[in-house]
Amino acid sequence: MAILVTGGAGYIGSHTCLELLNKGYEIIVIDNFSNSKPESLKRVSKLSNKNFKTYQIDLLDKKRLDEVFSTNQFEAVIHFAGLKAVGESVNSPLRYYENNVTGTILLCEAMRKYGVQNLVFSSSATVYGSTNEVPISEETQLNAMNPYGRTKQMCEEILKDLYLSDQTWSISILRYFNPVGAHISGIMGEDPIGIPNNLMPYISQVAVGKLKHLTVFGNNYHTIDGTGVRDYIHVVDLAKGHLKALEKVLATKEIGVYNLGTGQGYSVFEMVEAFEKASGERIPYIIKDRRPGDVAICYANPSKARNHLGWKATRGIDQMCQDSWRWQQNNPNGYNEQAEKQNRREQPVFNHASDFFMPKT
Ligand code: NAD
Ligand code: UD1
Repeated sequence: MAILVTGGAGYIGSHTCLELLNKGYEIIVIDNFSNSKPESLKRVSKLSNKNFKTYQIDLLDKKRLDEVFSTNQFEAVIHFAGLKAVGESVNSPLRYYENNVTGTILLCEAMRKYGVQNLVFSSSATVYGSTNEVPISEETQLNAMNPYGRTKQMCEEILKDLYLSDQTWSISILRYFNPVGAHISGIMGEDPIGIPNNLMPYISQVAVGKLKHLTVFGNNYHTIDGTGVRDYIHVVDLAKGHLKALEKVLATKEIGVYNLGTGQGYSVFEMVEAFEKASGERIPYIIKDRRPGDVAICYANPSKARNHLGWKATRGIDQMCQDSWRWQQNNPNGYNEQAEKQNRREQPVFNHASDFFMPKT
């Protein structure tokens, strides 16, 4: 029986697919490629030397979703598929509620119909909103501040109600802090469309010369150096957290909510310094006003995940920066065609054919 991975072509999904395959799980991916490219999955296939089915479908397409469930057997679902840009969610709230909330409801309906009731769900630390309480534990009051965050908070409530109504479900809700970094091979990583919103991809594009300078949003917070502090977590640690959560949902019949963070906060300046060290490049920056909606300090209390899932992040800030830099240097254009060609030339070891395929119906 396979694990269904929705949104498996995305940043966190692709790294998790690789970890699943490396652990011997069979996987099947659903993605509509609205924010990703099939190339990420080809690289998963090459790195793992394994093939898997990928369906290019939209979760909102009830009929085709049903076909995926009726023609395959799943023991669990890891549900990454969702839209994640805060600013975009403010401008297009209906699109976000439909995609993230309706998408999750339709997925759960299909799961229930086919008796697949084990689920790992991607939530976000964004559900905590603006809180002065750090480190943030899972008991902290939820207070999402924008439509994106509210889609995650609503999905969490829906999943809790679903479990209350039928305790044969088994559900892990994972609240990620700030995912950064890339696979150590340098052939998989984050591929944001357009100018990045988040700090780490922005810094790496400055380092590689695609962007002129970093804009630091505020240097007058009550923090170590006045800049915002966040809990950056390496994407491979995060991916491994999903395998632990999967083991949990397969072994129990309960619902659990877990912070996935390191428990350690770093400021913007500390990140800039670490990236300069990792890359040997200077990161010019200018200081501007605070970004609306930003909090001063946000980092996790990750002890629940350690105690209940047996998971702990092990990769530090230096490795996060080194791996991001390797990915950025090897793939200055991300997964796009030009980068693919370049990557093929530079990675002859991955020249063997892959049976990767995408059934269209
Ligand atoms: P991503 O955009 O790289 O990946 C999401 C994937 O889902 C993409 O491949 C996209 O094409 C796909 N998708 C979106 N809507 C779909 C739909 N209706 N049908 C089928 N496929 C669809 O994002 P990511 O960073 O990998 O994030 C994965 C999940 O984790 C998301 O739910 C996101 O909200 C959540 N999350 C991300 C972060 C972060 O900073 N990256 C932080 C907290 C939570
Ligand atoms: C953002 C999202 C949040 C999401 C999280 C993880 C917003 C308002 N929030 O949070 O919903 O869960 O990413 O992906 O978008 N910074 C700069 N200059 C930049 C970019 C960022 O100074 O160009 C600073 C920010 O002010 C912040 C820190 O760097 O202090 C981290 O920012 P970012 O990477 O965007 O993450 P979050 O703000 O935590």
